[in-house]
Amino acid sequence: MTDLVIQEEKIIERILTLELVRVTERAAVAAARLRGRGDEKAADQAAVDAMRRELNRLPIEGTVVIGEGERDEAPMLFIGEKIGAGNGPKVDIAVDPLEGTTLCAKNMPGSIAVMSMARAGSLLNAPDCYMEKIAIGPGYPKGVVDLDMSPEENVHALAKAKGVKPGEITVLILDRPRHAGLIEGCRKAGAAVQFITDGDVAGIIFTADPQKTGIDMYMGVGGAPEGVLAAGALRCVGGQMQGRLILDTAESRDRAFKMGITDPKKKYDMMELASGDVIVCATGVTDGALLKGVRFGKDHVETETIIYRSVTGTVRRIFAEHREMEKFRLD
Ligand code: FBP
Repeated sequence: MTDLVIQEEKIIERILTLELVRVTERAAVAAARLRGRGDEKAADQAAVDAMRRELNRLPIEGTVVIGEGERDEAPMLFIGEKIGAGNGPKVDIAVDPLEGTTLCAKNMPGSIAVMSMARAGSLLNAPDCYMEKIAIGPGYPKGVVDLDMSPEENVHALAKAKGVKPGEITVLILDRPRHAGLIEGCRKAGAAVQFITDGDVAGIIFTADPQKTGIDMYMGVGGAPEGVLAAGALRCVGGQMQGRLILDTAESRDRAFKMGITDPKKKYDMMELASGDVIVCATGVTDGALLKGVRFGKDHVETETIIYRSVTGTVRRIFAEHREMEKFRLD
């Protein structure tokens, strides 16, 4: 079930859905020129510059609510930055110009340029911190899995709801030492654990189509910005997700408080992470299971982009051949 019923005034102009394609395409191409160079910062900066340039052309009055960090640490696309040409709707913008910087720097699968747009006030204004996350795809009763349940309980509950044995459940987890207990719990319950080295926006989206991806559930701790971006995409296909910010220092709690987060332990559901009419757009940088990476030809550049729109549940894939090569370098 997608949330097709939504107040008219919360709906963003349809045309903007497709406008976002250019934004992530440009960011992806800029980053792709630096694939495999071992320089994460340069690739990220190239994506940020390109994304910002394109965003500033859009007829929107945008505010970056999920960005490259706070103003003092991020010169561009920082949280709170005003973006857009100014002659359009007031919108929240969430960006991850290069999701999987290490993957891009090492030319490994799965890096993407991704952003989201929603009516002002619709996306969680999350600081650049970690988030505990759990996600499953569509077709399950509400609340079947929960961040407050143990990994074993979640695997058993999901298996029961799917009508399979726990041994037929696959859980995707970021390969990090902090996940040792989680991995052990999932395996103890009988589930298979599949690892990703980076890139949990796509990791969460994989749960939307277990038939194709083989992934039933995503669990673990990753970036909060990535959590908000993934929630918007998963909403389109009707999955379930919960996220809880990890605010374990006085400083992080203070930062979050200033952004309007009064309960540091709050468990957010998918709709609280990304509500209203949310558009999520991603272009592949390196080849991956979600998207093909950028291809540089002799006289053209190829990109693949996916766009999710929550209000209609539409998912579009756009393969593009770009011939104005110079545009991708200069303007
Ligand atoms: P970056 O592109 O910012 O490097 O993020 C990649 C990523 O793997 C995210 O997908 C994930 O949410 C986060 O890093 C996990 O953080 P960490 O690498 O610190 O465990």
